Amino acid sequence: MKRVAILISGGGSNMVRLVEDMIGDHPARPVLVLANNPSAGGLAKAAAMGIATAVVDHRDFKGDREGFEKALISAIDPFEPDILALAGFMRILTPVFVGHYAERMINIHPSLLPKYRGLHTHARALEAGDDEAGCTVHEVTAELDDGPILGQARVPVKAGDTPDTLSARVLVQEHKLYPMALRRFASGDKSPILLG
Ligand code: GRF
Repeated sequence: MKRVAILISGGGSNMVRLVEDMIGDHPARPVLVLANNPSAGGLAKAAAMGIATAVVDHRDFKGDREGFEKALISAIDPFEPDILALAGFMRILTPVFVGHYAERMINIHPSLLPKYRGLHTHARALEAGDDEAGCTVHEVTAELDDGPILGQARVPVKAGDTPDTLSARVLVQEHKLYPMALRRFASGDKSPILLG
């Protein structure tokens, strides 16, 4: 049974779906939900689902990225995770942290990678006049939003879309794709899932 730690920064809607899926014959179980923000709404949701929670506030480590990541590792490793799932985690991680969890860290990114690495992905897709958008689950490597792809889901861009309307349409697919991708990754299958 693989042990999964989930890292969040905000509402944790993806985390909730991951936890809800890890029941029954699923090859993994959640062991920790950690936030870099003490007011992350996802912390209360995780606690309500009976999952251990932790906070490492990045603001306590201003300018000390190394210290922040050491504190993250100290908070995470006692739970002995086999997999780290980044779910709306909004801090950039250095190759030191990524290396510590090499081959066992995954992330969901709200674009069809390799398009639109980084932030403001929906606004960028709209500005480019793309006729489709979507989300990607990928293994985390030292390069930002660049690891092997484990799954993608596509949605149409519609006339009159704003970043908010497009984000909402993509989020529905994130909630389908991420649990499927985590289940497959936890079973040792790295073949990519393609939805939509
Ligand atoms: C989502 O748009 C996701 O693509 C990105 O963070 C946003 C919030 O996710 N990674 P959540 O609701 O906190 O899971």
